[in-house]
Formats: sequence, structure tokens, C-alpha cells
Amino acid sequence: MLLEPTRRQILCATVATVTLPVLLDNIHFAAAADADADGWLPSIKPDALADGTFVPVNGAKIILARQDHKITALSRICTHKQCAVKPSKKKAGILICPCHNAEYNLAGEVVTGPAKEPLPHHAIRLVNGTIAVHVKNQVAADAPDASLTLSP
Ligand code: FES
Repeated sequence: MLLEPTRRQILCATVATVTLPVLLDNIHFAAAADADADGWLPSIKPDALADGTFVPVNGAKIILARQDHKITALSRICTHKQCAVKPSKKKAGILICPCHNAEYNLAGEVVTGPAKEPLPHHAIRLVNGTIAVHVKNQVAADAPDASLTLSP
């Protein structure tokens, strides 16, 4: 005899299916950041970031984005309701929010709502050939320390 699932079982399965990916995606945010006393967190070498791609910064709610020769450090927190955005598996150069499917481009600009505001930029610089991001300081997108421009 086949038993029908109860409404409680269906509800639990639905909640787990929807929330588990979001929880797993946020686990690395709980890791202690290895930022220095001033808040700068070393990440990767610039050549480890291919054009048109993103690389998350370990231990921070930040993701690096490269467009042509420009590298920026974007907040990974969706401006709609604060879920963690991640690179889209279907669309190149797009960050997607798993909660309500907002999309952002490599500059952090909203491509598809419901988000209305762009992703904030974090200060970024090169330290001994390694990209370092400031885990706290958010800066205007056109600020001098909002991006790194690599030599072609
Ligand atoms: S929280 Fe990101 S789209 Fe709603």
C-alpha cells in the first residue's frame, strides 16, 4: 500500500528544498575573514580571473568581477532582500540571486529585477601582486579605489 505524504511532510520537503541551497551558499560567509587589522583581505592574482567572469573572495561577502582590463570587488548581498548572489550557470557575465532571480552584470548593475539598486563596490587594490579587497569599506562605483585597471 502506497502512503500519501501528509501536508506537513510536503511542507517540510518544500522548505528544505528552497532554503538549503541558500543556507549552504552562505556557510562560507561565517568563516573568519583573514583581513589585516585595517580590513584588507588578500585574494587572488589578477591573472587568475578570466575576462567576463567572477571569483568569490573567500571569507567575505564579496565577489571579484573582471570586464576587459578592469577588476572590481562587488558585494554579494542582493539589494532586494539580502540573499547571496552567485554567478549564473546559464548566462555568462551575470550574477543571479537564488531567492527571486534578480540579475546583475559585471559592473554590479541590475539587469533583471526585482532588485532596483546596483551591488555596492568594495575598495580594491594590489598588494605585492595580489588583489586585496577591503571587507568593510564600500565606495562609489566611480571612486578611484573602486577598481583595478590592468595593463593590456
Ligand atoms: S533577495 Fe535577491 S532578488 Fe530578492
